[in-house]
Amino acid sequence: NQLGLVSVGFSGGQRKPGVEVAPDFLVKAGLLDDLREALGYTLHYDNTIHTYAEDLPKEDPPQLNMRNPLSVSAATKKISSQVYSHAKEGRLTLTLGGDHSIAIGSISGAARAIRERLNRSLNVIWVDAHADINTPETSTSGSIHGMPCAFLTGIANPDPIFSWLKDLMHEGSAIEAKRLVYIGLRDVDIPEKKILRDNNIKAFSMHDIDRWGIGHCVELALEHLAGLDRPDIKGVKGYIYEGLGPTYLSFDVDALDPMWAPSTGTPVRGGLTLREGDFICECVHATGALVGMDLVEVNPIAPGYTADSPGAEATIRAGCSLIRCALGESLL
Ligand code: ARG
Ligand code: MN
Ligand code: MN
Ligand code: MN
Repeated sequence: NQLGLVSVGFSGGQRKPGVEVAPDFLVKAGLLDDLREALGYTLHYDNTIHTYAEDLPKEDPPQLNMRNPLSVSAATKKISSQVYSHAKEGRLTLTLGGDHSIAIGSISGAARAIRERLNRSLNVIWVDAHADINTPETSTSGSIHGMPCAFLTGIANPDPIFSWLKDLMHEGSAIEAKRLVYIGLRDVDIPEKKILRDNNIKAFSMHDIDRWGIGHCVELALEHLAGLDRPDIKGVKGYIYEGLGPTYLSFDVDALDPMWAPSTGTPVRGGLTLREGDFICECVHATGALVGMDLVEVNPIAPGYTADSPGAEATIRAGCSLIRCALGESLL
């Protein structure tokens, strides 16, 4: 039960300050003790919330409609090698954000390690209100936290400033679009909808969850991924999806309804309940195929909140709960 933890105090993928202090608050809420004592992990952690300050450029003008492109590139390159060095030892990895741009680093690092160790492709379950699959061309915000899936899948044309990622993609470190599955979507930009359709990407929106229930949607998501490696096997034996390959969970706390997680940079009403979020995490844990997780976009000082406000406190607690469920806490 080895767990590699990477704390990322980076907020350059979006505009609102505060998301960089989230790891500090998650840790102060007792997360590490829960992981060690309640869940029994041996924690590999450098006790550092990385800001990558020494790697960030002083000047970082927008390029190709991206804000802070050099900073995001530098930070995610470091994150990628941090996660890689845990994952290559066979450790489960947990990356605490920070904004969602950091998943460019964490997922590429995990994918590279899985390819080298197991010669397998990484599956990604992306739980989010947003699809985060804008390209630099389609983004209207310019915020790179709305683009990580476009870089990871190679749908975006990697600009020279992302050359390290281009190199990684040539080595086969990023992910295949068919191995990306979304749960919780409800605020998808028009060009993103076209990208999802054109690339035939599997997605379960809040409409699907209302219609079919969270249980069935998670089952279908896992079945889709399992079927990529074992098309001969259909269906579920308990929660064991035979053939399900190594799977990464990238959880944006804004997938939860603002009733449960209000203190985040881009809240969208009509989201998952805390139990639905925890349930997704519990199911992914139960597959035994989880190799890494991100928990991102907790912002204790999002507009309207202070770090000690009930809304911020609730959001931090929700984040800790999601992590515990993904890492093996069960109700009974
Ligand atoms: N689609 C919008 C954009 O491109 C919002 C993205 C929000 N992303 C997030 N990780 N919270 O800017
Ligand atoms: Mn989001
Ligand atoms: Mn929007
Ligand atoms: Mn996101």
